[in-house]
Amino acid sequence: MTQSAASDFPTPMPAQPVVELRDVTKQFGAVQALRGVHLALYPGEVHALVGENGAGKSTLVKMLGGIHQPDTGAILINGQETTLGSPLAARAAGIAVIQQHPLLFRTSTSPRTSTWAGSRRRASGGSTGAK
Ligand SMILES: Nc1ncnc2c1ncn2[C@@H]1O[C@H](COP(=O)(O)OP(=O)(O)O)[C@@H](O)[C@H]1O
Ligand SMILES: [Mg+2]
Repeated sequence: MTQSAASDFPTPMPAQPVVELRDVTKQFGAVQALRGVHLALYPGEVHALVGENGAGKSTLVKMLGGIHQPDTGAILINGQETTLGSPLAARAAGIAVIQQHPLLFRTSTSPRTSTWAGSRRRASGGSTGAK
């Protein structure tokens, strides 16, 4: 009888996301940049945030990076509602945002417009990315 290594099997999805946005909104004056945003990120996932100009991608990433705070809704880190009131607070929560650094992704077709947000606490490579 052969026995498979544990790594042969997909990792079961953990019960709770490491990062979650719940019904988040953000308004700049008359502009509703984000409305009703729900996002759940689990360990080991890689996401691409895609949308046309003005869709709110940068606003969302800046929110995760502690630059903007939601007007309504909640950010949860490991299931705990958390205020990411500054980039330092986001960093303390394990979130790093690297903006427009062309040397990071030499093979990217649009390196000058790349923004990446990632958690350094990931066990096996989870991150979010946004242009
Ligand atoms: N600091 C800000 N002040 C006022 N309006 C903003 C600000 N940041 C973003 N916006 C507006 O919010 C909307 C979403 O912008 P943004 O998040 O940059 O979109 P994307 O990154 O998807 O192109 C746009 O209408 C933009 O003009
Ligand atoms: Mg943008």
